[in-house]
Amino acid sequence: MLLDDKIKDIIIEAALLAPSADNSQPWQFTWHTTGTLSIWCDPLLSGEATDKTYVLTDLAIGAVLESIKLQALNLGFKTELSYFPDPDPLHVALISFSNQTNNKTNSSDCELARFIPDRHTDRRFPFKGKLDESTINQLSKSLNDDNCELFTFTDNKAIAPYISLIKKAEAVRFKAETLHHELFKTVNFQDPTPSQGMTLDMLGIEPFARPFFRYMNTWKNMQKLNKIGACNMIAIRSVSLPIKMSPALCLISVANTSRQDIVKAGQQILRFWLEATKLGLSVHPYAAPGVLTLAKPTLDPKLSAELEEVASGLTSQMSHSTKALMFFRVGYKKGLPVRSHRKSSESMRKKVS
Ligand SMILES: Cc1cc2nc3c(=O)[nH]c(=O)nc-3n(C[C@H](O)[C@H](O)[C@H](O)COP(=O)(O)O)c2cc1C
Repeated sequence: MLLDDKIKDIIIEAALLAPSADNSQPWQFTWHTTGTLSIWCDPLLSGEATDKTYVLTDLAIGAVLESIKLQALNLGFKTELSYFPDPDPLHVALISFSNQTNNKTNSSDCELARFIPDRHTDRRFPFKGKLDESTINQLSKSLNDDNCELFTFTDNKAIAPYISLIKKAEAVRFKAETLHHELFKTVNFQDPTPSQGMTLDMLGIEPFARPFFRYMNTWKNMQKLNKIGACNMIAIRSVSLPIKMSPALCLISVANTSRQDIVKAGQQILRFWLEATKLGLSVHPYAAPGVLTLAKPTLDPKLSAELEEVASGLTSQMSHSTKALMFFRVGYKKGLPVRSHRKSSESMRKKVS
C-alpha cells in the first residue's frame, strides 16, 4: 500500500479543515482497499433549499479535494482526481495517489498546503490597509483553472453596485421561511464549541445584538421584526458596513456551471483563500448572491423576483462569458476571530457495503 495509516490520517485532517457554508461539513469519505479515496456528499447535510442544485455542497467538497491534493503533494504524493466516477450523484470524486517524482515538485503548492491550518473566516471589521498591485497579482496567480477568474475591486465606485446586490441577496435569507430555517438551524445557542455549525461568537454578533438574534430564531418572531425592517438592517450591518470598512472586495467568477465545474471552483476558492492567508490577509466570504441565483430555491414569487433582480444585476456588471460565484471581503486585521470547530474524522467515514 502506497499510503500508510499515518499519512492517510494527515490527509483527512487537512480535508477536515476545509471551509463549508455554515460550517456544515456536508461530506463523507471512504478509503478503498486499493488505496484510493472516495469523497461523497453527506445525504443528510446536502440538497436543502439553498443547496437544491448541490452548489454549496459541491463548493465545500471542492475545497476538501484541494486540501487533500495540496497536503498529499506536501507529503510527496501526486493525486489524480476523477470527478463523478459513477452514476451516483453523491459520489463526487475518486482520488488516486502516486509517488511524486522529485524534480517535478511544485514548491508554491507545497507552501500553500502549509497554510491549511491557519486559514479561517474573519467576520470582524474594520479591515485595514491597502492592497498593492503585487498582492492583487499574487492573489490572481493562485488560481489555476481557466474556468474561474478572480476580480479584485479596491475602488469605492466599483464596489458600490456589488454592495447593493449582496445586501439584497442577504436580506432574502431572512425574508423566506425555508431559508431562515436553514440558516438558524446551523446556529448553536448553547454549546460554545460545537463540532458543526457556528456560535454567535463565531458569527461575530456583538453582545448588544445577541438578544435580537436569539429572538429572531423563530420564524414567527422574524416576521414580526421584518415588519419594522429587520432584514434590511441586518443586511446593512453584515454587508454594507463591513465591506465599506475594508480595502478590497474580491469576486470569483465561473464560465461554466456544471456540477463538475462548481466542484473545481471550490478548489479555486480554497487556493485563493490559502494564498490570502499566506499574504496575511483576513477573508470574509459572501456566497448569497451567486449561490442563491444558481440554486434557485423554491420561494414566494415576490422573493424569487428579488433574486432575479440580483441575477440580472450581476450579469449587467460582468461580461456575458462569466458568472459571479462568490464574493470575499479582504483586508488586514490584527489578532484572531473566534474559530469554528470540526466533526471527528471517524464520524465522516462512510460505511460502504
Ligand atoms: C461555499 C461557502 C459559502 C460560504 N458562505 C458564507 C457566507 O455567505 N457568509 C459567511 O459569513 N461565511 C460564509 N462561508 C464561511 C463558512 O461559514 C466557514 O467556512 C465555516 O463556518 C468554517 O469556518 P472557517 O472558514 O473559519 O474554517 C462560506 C464558506 C463556503 C465554503
